[in-house]
Amino acid sequence: MPDQPGQIDIPESFARPSEVAGKRVVITGASRGLGRLLAYAFSSAGARLALVARTEKDLKAVAEDLPGPSVVLSGDVTDEDFNEAVADAAVAEWGGVDVWICNAGISPVVAGPRKTDPSVWRSVIEVNLTGAFLGARAAARVMQEGGRLIFTGSVLGERPRAGLSAYSASKAGLVGLAKALALDLAASGITVNVVAPGWFDSPMAEAWKTNAKLAAGVLEHTAQRRWGAANDLAGAYQFLASDASAFITGTVLNVDGGYLLV
Ligand SMILES: NC(=O)c1ccc[n+]([C@@H]2O[C@H](COP(=O)([O-])OP(=O)(O)OC[C@H]3O[C@@H](n4cnc5c(N)ncnc54)[C@H](OP(=O)(O)O)[C@@H]3O)[C@@H](O)[C@H]2O)c1
Repeated sequence: MPDQPGQIDIPESFARPSEVAGKRVVITGASRGLGRLLAYAFSSAGARLALVARTEKDLKAVAEDLPGPSVVLSGDVTDEDFNEAVADAAVAEWGGVDVWICNAGISPVVAGPRKTDPSVWRSVIEVNLTGAFLGARAAARVMQEGGRLIFTGSVLGERPRAGLSAYSASKAGLVGLAKALALDLAASGITVNVVAPGWFDSPMAEAWKTNAKLAAGVLEHTAQRRWGAANDLAGAYQFLASDASAFITGTVLNVDGGYLLV
């Protein structure tokens, strides 16, 4: 067909939406649950990983079992110096960081505002929101053009459930943070996005699965009437980590079986 005015140029090849081979990826909260799942998925896809959480022995157990290379960096994401040390360690190991997944989180369930001790509120905001900011701050120092920041949010940030005010606020806050940082870092060629999972098996979610009333509530409000499976989650992160997502920034990708629809 002859060229028509305005027609977009077709490239010789297209970026593959889940291609992360060789990428240097920091994953916080990698010792169990969703972070551990992401570690296996990214490692299987050929990424090089920095695994972050507080409990070193759990991280080592994951690292020893991964199919690809990884380094273990134990520490607290609420510690500014630790985040900067993670960035330095990744640079020392691989010369840079391509993807930083701020996934570490906590979610104490409490019975309303009078039972939510202010110290609980502060700790949730500190880990889930401030921890992500400090990770992003360290990442922004060492990332080059093409860098990817991905926050693990939650559908509860948009559609809360009772007893999770601090958690819901922290996850809603992550959306605002991602959008603001997307603006701040656009000129550097770094994208910032949120993946918001619905319910997936993890030590954190165990209380929801084993409590009949909570579990029924999850299924009742999930359009697909099931929990997320192992293969349902990592693709969203890998897409946002890949070269195919360069023009996507400041967005929320819900991976929730339709939880926000029901
Ligand atoms: N599971 C779900 O259905 C679900 C749904 C939506 C969103 N999420 C989000 O997904 C993320 C992972 O949740 P999960 O279900 O996998 O929880 P999890 O099983 O409790 O795992 C939490 C991870 O975060 C680490 N962590 C906690 N506090 C930390 C800190 N201060 N510094 C460094 N690491 C810390 C933990 O390791 P250490 O304790 O050793 O530090 C662990 O590796 C969280 O952000 C959570 O809010 C989960």
